[in-house]
Amino acid sequence: MKLLVCGGAGFIGSNFVRRALAGNDAVEVVNLDKLTYAGNPDNLRSVEADPRYKFVQGDICDREIVMRAAEGVDAIVNFAAETHVDRSLLGAAHFIDTDIKGVLVLLEEARRVGLERFVQISTDEVYGSIESGSFTEASLLNPRNPYSASKAGGDRLAYAYWSTYGVPVIITRASNNYGPYQYPEKLIPLFVTNALRDQALPLYGDGRNVRDWLHVSDHCRAILFLLEHGTPGEVYNIAGDNERENIEITRKILHLLGRPESLITPVQDRVGHDRRYSLDASKLRGLGFRPRVDFEEGIAETVRWYVENEWWWKPLKDHDGEFRRYYQQQYGERLS
Ligand code: NAD
Ligand code: DAU
Repeated sequence: MKLLVCGGAGFIGSNFVRRALAGNDAVEVVNLDKLTYAGNPDNLRSVEADPRYKFVQGDICDREIVMRAAEGVDAIVNFAAETHVDRSLLGAAHFIDTDIKGVLVLLEEARRVGLERFVQISTDEVYGSIESGSFTEASLLNPRNPYSASKAGGDRLAYAYWSTYGVPVIITRASNNYGPYQYPEKLIPLFVTNALRDQALPLYGDGRNVRDWLHVSDHCRAILFLLEHGTPGEVYNIAGDNERENIEITRKILHLLGRPESLITPVQDRVGHDRRYSLDASKLRGLGFRPRVDFEEGIAETVRWYVENEWWWKPLKDHDGEFRRYYQQQYGERLS
């Protein structure tokens, strides 16, 4: 099978590309990625020389590039997106472009060439926040920030191309991922790398918002599983079954690194901060899929990865003007 992976140079996409190539000699991958601030060729060093892997730098909104990249592929797996809620609060235009209009370009291409599968990577955030219980695939969508609203747009557009034109679309909605190669602006890599430098850990609000943590390897396994066993037109929740308050994650990181809790710095909350995400993943379990990574082991291994791979994150934090500009804008006042 030849896959067009969009956004394969990002966190989850790069973990997926490595896994797809390692798991099956017959798999070929074309990775179409714009290389925004979040895309990083270093994430894929280990497969660069593999003859079954090809990289194309380009924007999924560009129809010509998408047509060229999609030549001869059997399926598209679309990870490409603007993905950071906090950035969407500073400006949403890029989110609308990539997460909705870009998805439209990909769907049009899938329709034109008659692809076998189109996997749209959506998110649990499209359901919005839930105080108790868990969302099933039949729950109403209630996205509450510009990122999740744009992802809901892409999610429903993908469904519309199935119901209207029969494009064989599968939609996945996963919970918060953690693991290696996550850009150091998201909670876990930011806090690990700050703690390693004895810098403040800016915890939003009361620190009691709840996220369900899914190891990136389990997310990637689930996507490969659904490429084979998923039914077109269906949505699948992918949960980690590891709900934790942010303060608990923060303390765990400090404990694993042997750093003091005095680094925890409560700061002004994220506006419209969703309190809790929770997924019911019994539909996927019913097909025979189970996550494998135990959270305690997964988080320890993840923290160790950032400790041992400073070569990867140091250039992003220290030499990439984009990171420093964003950090100042997001945390400058909060931490002053
Ligand atoms: P990421 O921000 O690490 O990577 C996004 C990738 O998309 C980058 O390589 C970037 O260069 C690329 N990209 C952005 N705009 C593009 C464009 N216009 N054309 C081509 N490439 C473009 O994101 P991630 O955390 O790996 O998330 C991947 C996908 O999974 C996203 O669709 C996200 O919504 C979804 N998701 C993420 C999580 C999570 O916890 N990280 C959970 C559920 C779903
Ligand atoms: O739930 C899936 C979503 O998870 C994905 O769709 C998104 O792409 C991904 O970025 C992630 O969104 P979150 O907003 O949940 O992730 P983030 O790492 O930004 O924040 C996790 C929690 O930690 C959230 O409650 C906000 C809090 N937080 C985050 C940062 C960056 C802090 O308290 N301080 C921080 O500095």
